[in-house]
Formats: sequence, C-alpha cells, structure tokens
Amino acid sequence: MSPEVHPGLEGVVAAETQLSSVDGLAGELIIAGFPLAELAPNATAEETIYLLWNGQLPNASQLSELQQALASQRVLSPATLDLLRAVAAEKASTMDALRMAAGSLISTDDPDADAVRVVAQLPTMVATYWRLRQGQAPLEPRTDLSHAANYLYMLHGSAPTPQQVRALETYLNTVVDHGLNASTFTARVITSTGSDLISAVVGAVGALKGPLHGGAPGPALDMVFAIGKPENAEPYLRQKLESGERLMGFGHRVYKVRDPRADVLALAADKLFEGAGDSSFYDLVRHVEETAIALLAEYKPGRRLQTNVEFYTAFLLHGLDLPTDLFTPTFTIGRAAGWIAHCFEQRATGRLIRPQSVYVGPHNRTWTPLDER
Ligand code: COA
Repeated sequence: MSPEVHPGLEGVVAAETQLSSVDGLAGELIIAGFPLAELAPNATAEETIYLLWNGQLPNASQLSELQQALASQRVLSPATLDLLRAVAAEKASTMDALRMAAGSLISTDDPDADAVRVVAQLPTMVATYWRLRQGQAPLEPRTDLSHAANYLYMLHGSAPTPQQVRALETYLNTVVDHGLNASTFTARVITSTGSDLISAVVGAVGALKGPLHGGAPGPALDMVFAIGKPENAEPYLRQKLESGERLMGFGHRVYKVRDPRADVLALAADKLFEGAGDSSFYDLVRHVEETAIALLAEYKPGRRLQTNVEFYTAFLLHGLDLPTDLFTPTFTIGRAAGWIAHCFEQRATGRLIRPQSVYVGPHNRTWTPLDER
C-alpha cells in the first residue's frame, strides 16, 4: 500500500515551537505568548528580536546591549559593498541583490554573533542597494538611531518622525514570525543539516521571494493604483476573477478568517494616514478590500477567502514612502529575526528534516543509444 501523500505538506506538523502560534480558524496569532495586537504596536523592533531569541522581554540593560550590538554591526564589508555596486550595474531586483548580499557574509563558529550581524546588515544592504539603483550615493548607517529608524534614514536621507518609526516597528513586529511558513521551514531544513545560520537565512530569502509567499504586497498595491477610483473596483476585480486570476492580498493557506495581522496593520496604517491629513487613498483601499471580499465569496463560494497580511502591508509601507520594489525586502528584514529564532530552536532538536516521496514515474525502461533517440 502506498503511503499517504500530503501535497504542500498541508496539515503536517513537523516541529514544536515556542515562537508563534497561528490559529487559522480563530484568526489568532500569538508571538512568544503575546497576542499580536498586544505586542506589535508596543514593542520596539529590538525588543521583539530579543523576545524571540531569548524567550522573554529584555530589561533595560539587556535591551541596551542588543541595541548597541546591532548598531555596531550595521556597516557592510568592502566585499559586500563591491558586490552591491556590481549588481546595481546589472539592474538586478532588490530581492536578488539582497539574496546575493546576504550570501556574501562569511559565517563564523559563533551563531549568536552571526545572528546579530545578519539582522543588523539586512537593512543596510537593502537601503544601500536601493540608493545605488537610483544613482544615489549610499549613506553610512547611523549608530544613534534604532534598527527601524536607521533603515528609514538610510533609504530617505533624513531622520524619520516618531510616527514613521512606530509604524515601521509595528510592521516589523507583525511579520517577525508566523509558524512554519515556507521560508521559516526552509531555514529550519537548512539548519537541520548542521549547516550555518547565514546559509539558512540565504535559503529563506529565496523562499520568501516567491509571489505566493512574500512577493504579494507590491502587486496588491499595483492593483489598487490600477483601480484608481472606488467606482472602478467592482468591474476591475470582476474581470480579474472572470479570467481566472488571483487577487493579490487575499486568501491564505492557514487563515480561513481575516488575517489578524491585517487588523494590526490596518490600525497602524490608519494612524499614519490620519497624521498625513488626506485619507482619500486609505478610503479607496478600504473600498477595494470590501469589494474584493464580496466578489471572492461570489466566485469562490465556500473557500473563505479573506484579506491577508500583504494587503495592509502594501498600504502601510506606501505610507512610509517605500516604493513597491522594497516591500518584499522590508518583509525580509522583519522576518529574518524569526528565521534565526527558528534556527536556534531547530539546532536544539538536533534532528535532520528529511521527508519522503512516493515514486510515480515509469519502471523497467531499457536503454536507447544516443544515435537512436
Ligand atoms: N484570488 C482568487 N482566487 C483565489 C485566491 C485569490 N487570492 N486565493 C485562492 N483562490 C482560489 C483558488 O483559485 C482555488 O480555487 P479553485 O478551487 O476554484 O481552483 C481556491 O481558492 C483554493 O486555493 P488554493 O490554491 O488551494 O489555496 P492555497 O491555500 O494554496 O492558497 C495562497 C493560499 C496565499 C497561495 C492563495 O490564496 C493566493 O494565491 N493568494 C494570492 C497571493 C497572496 O496574497 N499571497 C500572500 C499570502 S500571505
């Protein structure tokens, strides 16, 4: 009898974790014991990183130590910088550049130090590459700014407002971990072979890049731009569904109700856009969301397709003046801390991840010489 196959490994439990709990039916996400809505809008990025790597919130001196360690590791090596310059000349996508730049880090036999270095440098890599691609000189990272503030500074060239920093920190916290998603699983598989943390992060970057995982927020925003006015939403979305296309920013493998991350980000986007005065774009976004959900229920009855994290990611990051090209790289910056926490957990198990496959190909073939094929 053939073993049962689980396509996409759906429903298969492959690890125990203390990092996050995703309840797709209740629409609940818990990060290291905190409901997402409790943690994300309150913690700094550094506090969340510490929490995931140590299992508890830092006290003042532990936090200050991590802040200083991250700040001191932000500068790229000449080799990484040369690589980014060469890749910018080739006009590679930012995710390709980030994968290569992360791959240029040399792993050491100190995983804790490697963890700090890679988390500290991912924002520098993205901002440096982005400026090079725009024909601008890259900026030196600042040690007096927080993880999130320094990233915005390095992109835009001016220190961000506290509201902007808060919005980005809420975003980074929201995406830091999410159960055994594809990129986290990738990082754990690589770690399970005994390989190093840098390799795990590079592999995870490759997994996150795909449009079914981290690559959706850019297209979600493009969709709203293409819709332009509330009255266009229904005909535009209907036409997409009629032609069998997927609506980016909707649907999730695990959540069958509204993604709780969408709520947290919607609230953060609300605050950011409110401060900016003009809420017309935000109103358009809300209208597109409502229309999309109604049409998905009509075209895909019983599928329970709801708003996912990518939809509000798009609007929050847009509100921070980030171009769509930087959406997935910014997701990467947030998720990297979660990947690393999983690598630590995986290493502690010491167990190689090695599922099986069922062979469904032909049997008993006979060899045909090349000149007879
Ligand atoms: N728009 C339209 N239809 C969708 C859809 C979407 N966003 N998401 C799923 N569906 C449909 C599928 O076409 C399928 O319909 P069918 O049974 O008639 O063929 C059905 O819903 C089930 O889809 P399936 O592919 O089995 O679900 P999944 O669990 O593999 O999909 C996603 C999860 C995220 C890959 C999927 O919802 C998707 O592609 N969403 C858009 C991309 C996106 O926003 N990604 C970010 C995720 S955080």
